[in-house]
Amino acid sequence: MDDLKHQVEQIKNQFLHKLDLAQTEVELENVRILFLSREGSIPKLMHILKELSPDDKRHFGPLLNELKKESEQKFEEKKKKLALEALNKAEMKKTNFDVTAYESKMPKGSLHPYTPVIELIEDVFISMGYKVAQGFELEDEFHNFEALNIAKNHPARDMQDTFWIDVNRLMRTHTSTVQIREMESQKLPLAILSYGRTFRNEATDASHDFVFMQVEGLLIDKNVSMGNLFATLKIMLQGIFQRDDLDIRIRPGYFPFVEPGIEVDMACPFCTSGCSVCKKTRWIEMGGAGLVHPNVLKACNIDSTEYSGFAFGFGLTRLVMLKYGINDIRLLNSGKLEFLEQF
Ligand code: PHE
Repeated sequence: MDDLKHQVEQIKNQFLHKLDLAQTEVELENVRILFLSREGSIPKLMHILKELSPDDKRHFGPLLNELKKESEQKFEEKKKKLALEALNKAEMKKTNFDVTAYESKMPKGSLHPYTPVIELIEDVFISMGYKVAQGFELEDEFHNFEALNIAKNHPARDMQDTFWIDVNRLMRTHTSTVQIREMESQKLPLAILSYGRTFRNEATDASHDFVFMQVEGLLIDKNVSMGNLFATLKIMLQGIFQRDDLDIRIRPGYFPFVEPGIEVDMACPFCTSGCSVCKKTRWIEMGGAGLVHPNVLKACNIDSTEYSGFAFGFGLTRLVMLKYGINDIRLLNSGKLEFLEQF
């Protein structure tokens, strides 16, 4: 009978050892098959009980029963422990989620072509101490026209076909509205950059859209000159096209809110002797600029004998189209993925 006792001891130790080693569900299942299943060594040992004398049964019965009970209990404990560990591991994975390691089968996103150009312009102006200001797309007549020295029946209103919302409200036709809002509300001296959507009531084609972007700059200080304006425009264009040698050319231009007013052309960044982009002229029209008209300063309660300033308004849409060689303006707002994916 010592033999049987020894066997019980041995099986118990083997079982505990193997159970201890099991680290996965599969390994645990193997332990169950080996020791606890119908053909496993512990139930097999129980069969021997039947063949024992009543005395031995009395002695070994409890011993074997205890072995069975204890091993089943130990097995269940281990099973729970492994399940909990697996759960913790999964949770850890969730919290230590490495976004950079994520490999998606979805197409990668890309920036809208406006974004990198806007970032370049912001960098240039912020480095010169400008603040980025925002205005409203829905404006009133005062900020879009009147304060900008465009009186009610002035023919200059016809230069900008307007989407009127009601008698006083309209979709801004230019970003120059932001000049007024900033001069009204901010302390002098003032240096602001603004960009955003503008709206004109016109038919669309490859080079016209009824919504497009402008970028506007305004500097109000003492003794501001046209020289300051030229230098600023040059620095901006050189920043956008990343070229130090990019020149500008100015022509007289009429805008009621500046005096003198100029139209600004940029030397074609793509050629030296004429190409299809500059239509063989070597120059590309960029927008208007000039020294802020005293009437505009007056409308914003600024003393024009003490302060002066310059302003410019360029087609941001045009700049973006030029920079990336986009030949149809309508693509920019089309939401077409095959277009957007190129940037
Ligand atoms: N607001 C003018 C336009 O949209 C451009 C401009 C801005 C001209 C500032 C001069 C000064 O046509």
